[in-house]
Amino acid sequence: MEFFLDTANIDEIRAAKSQGLMDGVTTNPTLLAREGGDWRKQAAIICMEVDGPVSLEVVGKTAAEMLMEAEYLTKFGNHVVIKLPMTTEGLIACKTLTDKGVKTNVTLVFSPMQALLAAKAGATYVSPFVGRLDALSHSGMELIKQIRTIYDNYGFKSKILVASVRNPMHVLDGALIGADVATIPYSVIEQFVKHPLTDSGLAAFSADWTQLTGK
Ligand code: G3P
Repeated sequence: MEFFLDTANIDEIRAAKSQGLMDGVTTNPTLLAREGGDWRKQAAIICMEVDGPVSLEVVGKTAAEMLMEAEYLTKFGNHVVIKLPMTTEGLIACKTLTDKGVKTNVTLVFSPMQALLAAKAGATYVSPFVGRLDALSHSGMELIKQIRTIYDNYGFKSKILVASVRNPMHVLDGALIGADVATIPYSVIEQFVKHPLTDSGLAAFSADWTQLTGK
């Protein structure tokens, strides 16, 4: 399973990169707004820092607007993936960009039918938002299962990108189902590392070594 970092924060990107835990980055307008400053500079730094796919999201409403933005955004780097909304206009833009060989990420996916449409439009990545579904008492993971089944039934190549991740179980369950990618907040990556048995085991090794060597 590939790990993308769901952030526009450079320190988080550098930290995950140094641990070998970052295969790419997804941003969105909210994440860029959280960092403040000039989003263009931020996006340029992210693209320089990341040696993998970087999703940059369009904000236009029409396919024509989205395609104009896509043309601008692809100039930020070779690995830019154009993030498009799961709307009719977004699908038109997705099909057009796919035909031109530009990588796409269809975002704000909340149903298996939306995921099927995104795959038919040729999306490189499809982003079902599991955390936001769970928050409304719908099962985010059930959606991932359904999408996996549909894509496998028909051999769609679109990658399932588990998004809106709230906890390690979203990533673990996504991996067990066979999702291709999870885009993860850095705070959740930090949670993966920790285990009380690792801490107590380490403390015991350290104490025994001190007893043996006096150091
Ligand atoms: O990158 C899109 C998605 O992961 C957003 O998640 O936390 O805003 O629901 P969230």
